[in-house]
Amino acid sequence: MFQKFSRNLSSLRLSIPVLAAMAIVVAAVSCSVNVQNAGSKFTPYSGAEFAEQSDNLDVGYEPTAMAVVNAMLTMASISPKDFLIDLGSGDGRIVITAAKRFGAHGFGVDLNPKLVELSIKYSRDMRVADRVAFYVQDLFVTDISKADVVTMYLLQEVNLKLRPKLLSDLKPGTRVVSHDFHMGEWRPDKTIIIPKEDREKSVLYLWIVPTKVSGKWQWRISMPGGEQTFSLEVDQHFQNFAGVATNEKGKWRLFDTTLRGDQISFSLVSEADDRMIRQDYEGRVKSNVIEGTVTLSGGVKETRF
Ligand SMILES: C[S@@+](CC[C@H](N)C(=O)[O-])C[C@H]1O[C@@H](n2cnc3c(N)ncnc32)[C@H](O)[C@@H]1O
Repeated sequence: MFQKFSRNLSSLRLSIPVLAAMAIVVAAVSCSVNVQNAGSKFTPYSGAEFAEQSDNLDVGYEPTAMAVVNAMLTMASISPKDFLIDLGSGDGRIVITAAKRFGAHGFGVDLNPKLVELSIKYSRDMRVADRVAFYVQDLFVTDISKADVVTMYLLQEVNLKLRPKLLSDLKPGTRVVSHDFHMGEWRPDKTIIIPKEDREKSVLYLWIVPTKVSGKWQWRISMPGGEQTFSLEVDQHFQNFAGVATNEKGKWRLFDTTLRGDQISFSLVSEADDRMIRQDYEGRVKSNVIEGTVTLSGGVKETRF
């Protein structure tokens, strides 16, 4: 019966009569099945008997296939020092696998109390209850500031609604992995496609939360002929940024820009001189200071700007 669930969550919304019929059957089943009687490991559709069709939910329940869970965690480069938060955690499989297989800590939130109860049971059965927690909570009000990794299997419009919170509440460098749904103009830093034999493919997206670099920057460096002061006005769009630098001699074009978390690199080329002088910057943004190195015409010099 549960195999009729569509992998494409957006289509869940379109198939209301089918869902209504299923909900009746599910409701009938859930009267006789309680969480404590559920098995003690994940199956392709575990938790489906506890799925709710509620107006409070931003997205219905559908578990991520275990092969895809492993791919999401690998894509996030999860390690024992990481704290993972799964927003809309279903039967808990992402958080529990992060703890069991990769040694991480974390928690999941879901508005469905039965699924939260089931996740807690699974975490005990799989002996990771000391490293994970599950809460009945709305993902939009959850404190996510502790996360090193955030995972989501939601819907396009939910991702877009969540995007400002992710960008403002997560620390720079946090990895965000979404199953099947992207985040519009915030382009992913990486995308992978997982082919499946029996169903449509899964697409996974990874973003590295960028630090804020927009605004005016100023620094001094030694150049052939003496110290020079540079100014740069940066215009930032998520992890992309652009701008034009100036010094006493004129304008410098900014190119080859990258921003991954707080790691920044860019190059400047003088537009003023007959000779084309190039500077390659690499550094780390620490609030209103960038520390790193600049390579000038082959020589390397430590600088602060
Ligand atoms: C598609 S399932 C994903 C489950 C799990 N993350 C996975 O990938 O296997 C989405 C889950 O989000 C939950 N959910 C929907 N709206 C929510 C909200 N506003 N706050 C918290 N959970 C929510 C649903 O109950 C459902 O369990």
